[in-house]
Amino acid sequence: MNNKNRLGVIFDLDGVIVDTAKHHFIAWQQLAQSQGWHFSLEDNEQLKGVSRVRSLELILQWNKAQITPELFEQLLKEKNERYLNLIRDMDPSERLPDVQRVLQVLKDSGCGIALGSASKNARPILDKIELTPYFDVIVDGTNVSKAKPDPEVFLQAANQLGIAPEDCVVFEDAVAGIQAAKAAGMRAFGIGDPEQLTQAERVFKDFTQLDNTYIEQHIIGR
Ligand code: BG6
Ligand code: MG
Repeated sequence: MNNKNRLGVIFDLDGVIVDTAKHHFIAWQQLAQSQGWHFSLEDNEQLKGVSRVRSLELILQWNKAQITPELFEQLLKEKNERYLNLIRDMDPSERLPDVQRVLQVLKDSGCGIALGSASKNARPILDKIELTPYFDVIVDGTNVSKAKPDPEVFLQAANQLGIAPEDCVVFEDAVAGIQAAKAAGMRAFGIGDPEQLTQAERVFKDFTQLDNTYIEQHIIGR
């Protein structure tokens, strides 16, 4: 198939498709408590889009704590076990509003659709919320070696879609994710707070603010 000028649309997962930040927060907070460390909601905000390893490094740094490499590995494992426990019963009701409508409009228009997530749990989460069939390509934390703001995850997604980066757009809720999209040479749309996502081309509070006309005229129509 000739993919020239076909549009690729790459979605981040956490905070864009599904509201997992609250589960990550509880898991990190329980872990911090077990070690006598401080971890607040504001701290959690700074971990959006940040890999599991980097998140633990930051929590240690904020608490001026030093641990052995063995304990570091053990805590990473423990955090994920707590997180998996919290999302065990996740179902389609945890999709963020209107995400399925946007996916459907893009699919109906023939766009290539990809996931570009830092999470190593992305595939089971997409399955739980029953959105996997929309995605032509999934690139997640198990496939990349460099975390956002490095563009690797989005460049891999574009490559697997067979679409040039300049013909791709990204939806992201994290500052590092917007930076990664721009570093990949892609258009970057923010989902969330415009005061934070200042580098995005445009920011929508959530997908309810992105109507089909805008998608057709300004995203698909470019
Ligand atoms: C990102 C989340 O998408 O994935 C981060 O915004 C999270 O909060 C990161 O730390 C890694 O996720 P996981 O599921 O591999 O621990
Ligand atoms: Mg995110």
